[in-house]
Amino acid sequence: MQEKIIILDFGSQTTQLIGRRVRELDTYCEILPYNKFPKGDESIKGVILSGSPFSVYDEKAFKIVLDDIRGKYPILGICYGAQFIAYTCGGTVEPAGTREYGRAHLSAFDTDNVLFKGIRLGTQVWMSHGDTITSIPANFKKIASTDEVAIAAYQVENEQIWGVQFHPEVYHTEEGTQLLKNFVVDICGCKQDWSPASFIESTVAELRAQLGDDKVVLGLSGGVDSSVAAVLLNRAIGKNLTCIFVDHGMLRKNEFKNVLHDYECLGLNVIGVDASAKFFGELAGVTEPERKRKIIGKGFIDVFDEEAHKIKDVKWLAQGTIYPDCIESLSITGTVIKSHHNVGGLPEKMNLKLCEPLRLLFKDEVRRVGRELGMPEHLITRHPFPGPGLAVRILGDITPEKVRILQDADDIFIQGLRDWNLYNEVWQAGVVLLPVQSVGVMGDERTYERAVALRAVTSTDAMTADWAKLPYEFLGKVSNEIINKVKGVNRVVYDISSKPPSTIEWE
Ligand code: XMP
Repeated sequence: MQEKIIILDFGSQTTQLIGRRVRELDTYCEILPYNKFPKGDESIKGVILSGSPFSVYDEKAFKIVLDDIRGKYPILGICYGAQFIAYTCGGTVEPAGTREYGRAHLSAFDTDNVLFKGIRLGTQVWMSHGDTITSIPANFKKIASTDEVAIAAYQVENEQIWGVQFHPEVYHTEEGTQLLKNFVVDICGCKQDWSPASFIESTVAELRAQLGDDKVVLGLSGGVDSSVAAVLLNRAIGKNLTCIFVDHGMLRKNEFKNVLHDYECLGLNVIGVDASAKFFGELAGVTEPERKRKIIGKGFIDVFDEEAHKIKDVKWLAQGTIYPDCIESLSITGTVIKSHHNVGGLPEKMNLKLCEPLRLLFKDEVRRVGRELGMPEHLITRHPFPGPGLAVRILGDITPEKVRILQDADDIFIQGLRDWNLYNEVWQAGVVLLPVQSVGVMGDERTYERAVALRAVTSTDAMTADWAKLPYEFLGKVSNEIINKVKGVNRVVYDISSKPPSTIEWE
């Protein structure tokens, strides 16, 4: 049985980070809404209570019955989690005199406490709370302070319960990973045996048990998640998996051909469907970005559905949904936002059972699993690419000619990034075809042609992004090559906006 740590989510923005840090310790963990603790699960080795946007004395604050877990598992409360435990047991939590945000240093701590094993006095921690614990019950022992915060950490005496008011999961807490390791490994006794190889072994066994001889369809996009899901399923059920790769005509240059070839080399049973004529027909004259998205989304579902129905007795739809898509994040009002799927609307339309073998993995873990499965590096390190493809990078209406121009310019940019070893330095890159013509001169001729914008960003999750500081020399070479080789383009500009306030895609 795969041992695990449960992280109860009280709505903090950094709850997912706690999960990431625990996984980095090669320990399996699950993030669950605070009120969904799985009673009676013998694989649980410890429980972490997250932070929260609420104050413990707030009427709407998320609360649990502490006795349900107290004495049964080691518990670590972080920020609100620590305040909740102290408050519930009779301590006092009050608004902090000065709001405690940002860097602080542990000016004193109990060096013998197992939670602080290997941690330096004076180590930097990150505080982010408006409340503070001002008194703890008699059976609680203060184990750390900062200059501003007297009770920065405590332990319940003779119990396996700890609380820290700082955030060990954020990078600014220098030895946060060590603290979490002390809890997860030394206190909870986790063996640190979660690895891509162990994940593959157990998931393949589970998929075989779950799917038996059933037939499964999966939509491939060329992206990392759906590709890894396909290879994993292929290992589990082989030819009972049929993959469908739809070309809506808005893919990158030669993408359909190249990716299809990659998939065939991986031994996947894959059907490539060229539906570009249908999509060009439906998109003709459409300029509004959201309508473009809707037309492509619906068209994709129709084509996929039609192809899937050609296969007899399909029972399952597999998808490459990953963990951040599934975590039920808690909104301030306490309502749970439903998990969402990669291809919105497909599961509802197809009336098939859903199989999502990567639903508990973070993106970098998906990549590690892909490598372990022997997938080629260029498939694993691909930049994200939007579902509607180049359609949202052509401002204004879409024609096959405009797609051709954009594909050619994009190909030069992306190939250039690879040649200059810059591809893996950026999160995502592409070219945008602008609805603008400008005057130029080529030879002795006056030209009046299109302008394109290069876009390259750095990011860790696409929620925020910065424009990539690509070398001028590189940008100059790419600009020259595009203008010289791509018929119809006589001007190249570089997008230097960050997100927010700009988005990564222009539409
Ligand atoms: P924005 O433009 O919102 O993009 O900053 C954030 C990330 O999402 C991708 N993106 C999409 N992906 N369908 C997708 O599958 C879409 O309609 C879509 N729009 C944006 C974008 O490429 C970036 O990675």
